[in-house]
Amino acid sequence: MSEPKPPKGLFIKTYGCQANVYDSERMRDVLAPLGYTPVDSAEAADLVVLNTCHIREKATEKVFSELGRLKDMKQLSGGTMRIAVAGCVAQAEGEEIMRRQPAVDMVVGPQSYHRLPEMIARLSRQTGDVLEVDFAAEEKFDALPKSRQVSGPSAFLAVQEGCDKFCTFCVVPYTRGAEFSRSADAIMAEARELASKGVREIVLIGQNVNAWHGASPAIGGGGGAWRPPEWRLGDLIRHVAQVGFERIRYMTSHPRDMSDDLIEAHRDVETLSPFLHLPVQAGSDRILKAMNRQHTAADYLRTIERVRKARPDIAFASDFIVGFPGEGDRDFDDTLALVKAVGFAQAYSFKYSPRPGTPAAGMQLQVEEAVKEERLARLQALINEQSQAFNTATVGRKLPVLFSRVGKHAKQVLGYSPYMQSVHVENGAHLFGRIAEIEIVGASMTSLSGREGTTAMMSEEASA
Ligand code: 5AD
Ligand code: SF4
Repeated sequence: MSEPKPPKGLFIKTYGCQANVYDSERMRDVLAPLGYTPVDSAEAADLVVLNTCHIREKATEKVFSELGRLKDMKQLSGGTMRIAVAGCVAQAEGEEIMRRQPAVDMVVGPQSYHRLPEMIARLSRQTGDVLEVDFAAEEKFDALPKSRQVSGPSAFLAVQEGCDKFCTFCVVPYTRGAEFSRSADAIMAEARELASKGVREIVLIGQNVNAWHGASPAIGGGGGAWRPPEWRLGDLIRHVAQVGFERIRYMTSHPRDMSDDLIEAHRDVETLSPFLHLPVQAGSDRILKAMNRQHTAADYLRTIERVRKARPDIAFASDFIVGFPGEGDRDFDDTLALVKAVGFAQAYSFKYSPRPGTPAAGMQLQVEEAVKEERLARLQALINEQSQAFNTATVGRKLPVLFSRVGKHAKQVLGYSPYMQSVHVENGAHLFGRIAEIEIVGASMTSLSGREGTTAMMSEEASA
């Protein structure tokens, strides 16, 4: 047996989407056998990993300014601190990063981080290059440790990677690579592992999660029953539900892949959250076509209706881009009309940001910054109104809230309603890690306040 390695400090800073959050957790798992343990700040770390996002220009700029700060820290450490850049900026601009910031020791793309241990070894021997940007998602998942460290009641499980949709504004097909579905067997094994560690909520994630498909696996309990030869996401959700989670969610979905099996899962699987994040990006058919979204506004509205019919209390969220090349006032009005027609609980909206290498970046008729600003403000005002109305409608109701974070001040605890509303409760530290029935007493645009039971109610009122 080899001696246990001395602990080394690891600090991972995560930008961007849920896939990056998942990857950061898995990097921790990969590095744990080498003696790396998480620390609270970059200053205290022997290895700092920036897990980066390339989706919009701003996200990329942040990385270079953070690297400037880390360079100074590295100098203060006498040069012993190691700096790694991971994620989608690493994939897209690996060599550029190495050139622009010599303090960076390693660059590792989103499909290569299982190789971090050998990269660290190469670094200490000063041999070979330390840039890994291969695209073998399959190899990565096979190589990752089967055991996962969990921190809290909710966990992400990556079921799908990459994207073949090629929306004309988006870098994901280039940074994350081709669409890849993990096998149902591997997913079910990871789900069971998470359940055995006390996870209560599982979030199935992928850039195009509802494109997931897989061979019907040889999992136990078949009893000779007929199984469809191929599972789709709805089938997977039904099986994951049987593992015994209190809540299941999935994200992010493409409207084209909202197939019947998935919609039926919303009808049948009680633990599947009544919440669907379904990005639409725009409400104008002309712009949707230029974006290569492969559906019309009417198709989207029909999908919304189908899902609502299956699960009448479902809440919808979406993503929007304003100022896509060629977007005129009328097109933007169509976006506002679509938002009004759906009524979203939440939505994220962004100014179009040209990304190098994507078709839209080279399109004629780029929209002026001031016009983008103005449209963004109008869209956000409408969305805010809808969020406020949605949240206000839950005041007075009792909702099961999963408490997964501690609040800013002592004893405040934060969680999520089934509709993904953020809920905070004062004096609720004992609720952390579980689902509790909470009476909603206040609503803002972004969150709810709640209280537990009636006795707490009286004492709070007395002190208010
Ligand atoms: N510019 C602005 N927003 C973008 N998104 C993706 N690419 C761009 C871009 N080039 C937005 C989309 C997507 C979300 C994750 O980011 O709305 O759904
Ligand atoms: Fe990007 Fe479109 Fe793929 Fe979503 S579906 S990741 S927006 S290319």
